Amino acid sequence: MDYYGWIVFAHAITAAAFVMTMIIMQLVVANVMKRIPDSSGKKEGVSFIQKRWLPIVDAIIIVLGLTAIGIASLNFDMIISSSIFLTKIIIGIVALGAAYCNHFYLRYVKRELAASGRDPDRLKKIGRIMPVLDKVALIGGVITAVIGWYINHV
Ligand code: HEM
Repeated sequence: MDYYGWIVFAHAITAAAFVMTMIIMQLVVANVMKRIPDSSGKKEGVSFIQKRWLPIVDAIIIVLGLTAIGIASLNFDMIISSSIFLTKIIIGIVALGAAYCNHFYLRYVKRELAASGRDPDRLKKIGRIMPVLDKVALIGGVITAVIGWYINHV
């Protein structure tokens, strides 16, 4: 059984899913949402994204991270002997780190602060940091995926 091949297979699929969702959510959905005036329909739209879509993104970034760890531990020699791989991995770690930070930490801190009403300064700071981390995940993810596809297919 070739486990390594299956791990790279899952890495390639979740990488494509990661890049696609970053582009669609940040460059399309966010812009569409900005143009919809406050209404119950908009609220339902936001709630759909938060309840139905964000768990799928959570799963994508978890599997992408786990497969990256699997690849790195099974193929460490290949990675450290190639500067283009090292570049890909460093940018990939930064992009994934930004996504993890938003999805598994800041989202909950923000929710808690907004609900409790305490420490509005920290809430404001988080409101400024999250879009920056989103951009890091978007741009870093695209660069990482393009390097990965280039190395493996050109
Ligand atoms: C946002 C994060 C990441 C994205 C979007 C991404 C994307 C990709 C893509 C598109 C490929 C090529 C798959 C193919 O053959 O078509 C690839 C391969 C690879 N990735 Fe990632 N990657 C990410 C993070 C990482 C991390 C953090 C590591 C290591 C710690 C890593 C290690 C590798 C390795 C070693 C390969 C080559 C596997 C092989 O050909 O045997 N990646 N990645």
